[in-house]
Amino acid sequence: MTVTAPRPGEGAPTLGALTVGQLLRLCDVAGLAPADAEHYAAVLLTALGPVAERPLDLPPPTRTFLSDDHTPVEFSLAHLPGRPPALRVLLEPGCLEDDLAGNGRRGLAAVHELARAWNFSTAQLDALTDLFLPDDPHGPLALWIALELRAGGVPAVKVYLNPAASGPRHAAATVREALGRLGHRDAFAALPEADGYPFLALDLGDWDTPRAKVYLRHDDLTAARAGTLCRTVPGPSAEEIEEFLTLAGGFDGARDRLRVPLAGRPGLTCHAFTENRTGLPSGFTLHIPVRDYVRHDGDALARAASALRRYGMNPAALRRAMAALTSRRPEDGAGLIAYLALVHQQDRPARITTYLSAEAYEVRAPLVRMPAHAGVLSDMEMS
Ligand code: TRP
Repeated sequence: MTVTAPRPGEGAPTLGALTVGQLLRLCDVAGLAPADAEHYAAVLLTALGPVAERPLDLPPPTRTFLSDDHTPVEFSLAHLPGRPPALRVLLEPGCLEDDLAGNGRRGLAAVHELARAWNFSTAQLDALTDLFLPDDPHGPLALWIALELRAGGVPAVKVYLNPAASGPRHAAATVREALGRLGHRDAFAALPEADGYPFLALDLGDWDTPRAKVYLRHDDLTAARAGTLCRTVPGPSAEEIEEFLTLAGGFDGARDRLRVPLAGRPGLTCHAFTENRTGLPSGFTLHIPVRDYVRHDGDALARAASALRRYGMNPAALRRAMAALTSRRPEDGAGLIAYLALVHQQDRPARITTYLSAEAYEVRAPLVRMPAHAGVLSDMEMS
């Protein structure tokens, strides 16, 4: 008789089991029918591929930049007044590959599989692969996919690419070239100054108005500066953008709230192009990595709730979503709410998006006091 030693990971829940459980509970928060939820659970498993089988007592498959604890899955809720939030899931299909080139190839293959399943064109993405998926790519990512899980079982698809794939020095030129190939010849010139180009994203599949989105990084961003970054006309007022940064960053009680910089993880803006007549973006989003400016998720939830109420949305769905992801209390960790974003798309009501971590591998410990760079407490300490 041969006795086989238990293999590492045997018996532990898998990444797929954890994230499918989270997804099913979140589908309920998003008001999706059980049949849609079951279908999207299968879609998530297919898009993840073999990594879904990976037991959670093994380390993360790669040190992916997708989330802080390297779970290759992140959820988000697009909150809207008067109805349940829309649920999205971001994932890295190539996370089991051992190099970034393979990661990108696997990601591209996953997009093509989705395109076959739902019969959408990948022409826009295929026209850019030489720019974003070179043979010897730089990091920190190759290709991510986001699925917007709509009623009816056909998700809308977004693909995220790395403008620094040929090196950070070439990122701006890569964004300019990509926008040009997509027909947005004047778009690059319309963008505000930036400290980096973290992502270019494309809407593929079933969208009313597909967007090409450029994400910009802004180091040491202040509310005053954030108020100058929107290029959408008409767009939100500077005051509205300032107010959102001040609230999300926790600076609203600070004496000089417009001038306190986000000195931890940087704020991002996203500029969405949907037509090429005006040369201007039709959408503007400010993303605040709220997790770096809180003691714990209790603070992040309180800020998200004020932002939601301010825009006429009910924070109850966010609370339920957090409970759908984890049984820990918000106060017992920091990072479940990764980002808060204020989204302005022309001709649509303003939207708040909350980005929610799966925390498959790690919960970041809470701080006892507000981080020094988060303004409020340091300001109080000074007085
Ligand atoms: N984890 C990365 C970051 O914090 C990338 C990322 C994941 C991200 N979700 C996001 C960036 C939502 C902006 C918004 O930057």
